[in-house]
Amino acid sequence: MHVEFPAGFLWGVATAAFQVEGSTTADGRSPSIWDTFCARPGAVKNGDTGDPAADHYRRMPDDVALMRELGVGAYRFSLAWPRVRPDGGEVNPAGLDFYERLVDTLLAEGITPWPTLYHWDLPHALEERGGWTNRDTAYRFADYTAAVLDRLGDRVSTWTTLNEPWCSAFLGYGSGRHAPGRTEPRAAVAAAHHLLLAHGLGAEVVRSTAAENRVGITLNLFPVSPADPDSAEDREVARRVDGVQNRLFLDSVLRGRYPDDVLADLEPFGLRDVVLTGDEAVIGGTDFLGVNYYRDHYVSAVPNGKSGPASEWVGAEHVSFPKRGLPQTDSGWDVNAEPLTGLLLTLHTDYPRVPLYITENGVAYADVVDEDGRIDDTDRIAFVEQHLRAAHRAVEQGVDLRGYFYWSLLDNFEWAEGYAKRFGLVHVDYGTQRRTPKASAAWYSRVMADNGLAGRG
Ligand code: FCB
Repeated sequence: MHVEFPAGFLWGVATAAFQVEGSTTADGRSPSIWDTFCARPGAVKNGDTGDPAADHYRRMPDDVALMRELGVGAYRFSLAWPRVRPDGGEVNPAGLDFYERLVDTLLAEGITPWPTLYHWDLPHALEERGGWTNRDTAYRFADYTAAVLDRLGDRVSTWTTLNEPWCSAFLGYGSGRHAPGRTEPRAAVAAAHHLLLAHGLGAEVVRSTAAENRVGITLNLFPVSPADPDSAEDREVARRVDGVQNRLFLDSVLRGRYPDDVLADLEPFGLRDVVLTGDEAVIGGTDFLGVNYYRDHYVSAVPNGKSGPASEWVGAEHVSFPKRGLPQTDSGWDVNAEPLTGLLLTLHTDYPRVPLYITENGVAYADVVDEDGRIDDTDRIAFVEQHLRAAHRAVEQGVDLRGYFYWSLLDNFEWAEGYAKRFGLVHVDYGTQRRTPKASAAWYSRVMADNGLAGRG
């Protein structure tokens, strides 16, 4: 079957500031929570840090030229708050200069800039004042947003506030697998609310800048299923995991209120204490939704054997994730494209409708550079093809899906996994910073040009 996406479908690639830029001390940038976290022994694999990453800060013009050669329609990148307002304080014009050059270079090449304001790199100085557990951080985010819009608001009309606030809150303050590495369930819950509040306050700033502006949020959504549908215990952990992973964010942003069952689940962890009158109205409302999809969750109430409070599953700390014998990525994630169709349909039918974009989907595999220097990543091509087919099945059923961004353009710093996991369409040799497009880059280039999987399958 010929798989063609709707006319005007946006084809893109994604990166994030801390993962690709490097140059972490250039032009007045202050440390972020990720710089501090990387310095903590054992926090990041091999002691890797945000330098050199893919040296994108210095090689940006070449990287944009590469995107043009591939025929990329839109570039999803993030801005580093610690470049724009070092230590969360005064505006640093030199930090904004980089993003202005990036936007202008993209526009000159006919590539749509798709900026995200926050992709996890909080200025460390704000963490010292409580980070996302401190309500004031949401107001600082609004100030930071205003500084960015002041410089770039005349050239960019589509903005995303946050990338995956679930990770910032629950991996950052719950399990501590991500920066700032705290392991306090109450802190994770407070952080989740303050991140959502930051989304709402930031969105108000974006909208007040120009009437035609569109502002959205990107969530990492996982369809959740109980390992044994006949087990009440498995169904209960599935409900709880779905609650903190998906509905806490979806319902607040799309419906303007937290779900009653999640409010009850998180009451012992202080959710009701941090939600002030009027907050939910501020959070509610988005012009579009970015969906990051990598896999689903298959959950069991059989205890995972871990002890202690360090869990991202606040209120379901003992949940386990049994293996189903599915193929695995190099990240150890199940490959399962099919639930993406149902996820998109659920968003379309169960929630107030907004345009949807897949803002991330992609895969790390152990790429092999052959003796001619080529990377024949047929496994990555198969992965993306399966996911595009799954997304297209949703489009056929009426879902308003308007774009797809591959994660990532370049191999980069994969958070706690360091440089070991390679997600790029383009291979990066970190010693020389040489870029080598993988076979998947040429394949994806054709997909973008054909607006789908022309004549295949
Ligand atoms: C997502 C992140 C992104 C990248 C991919 C693999 O959760 O948003 O930065 O690390 O996973």
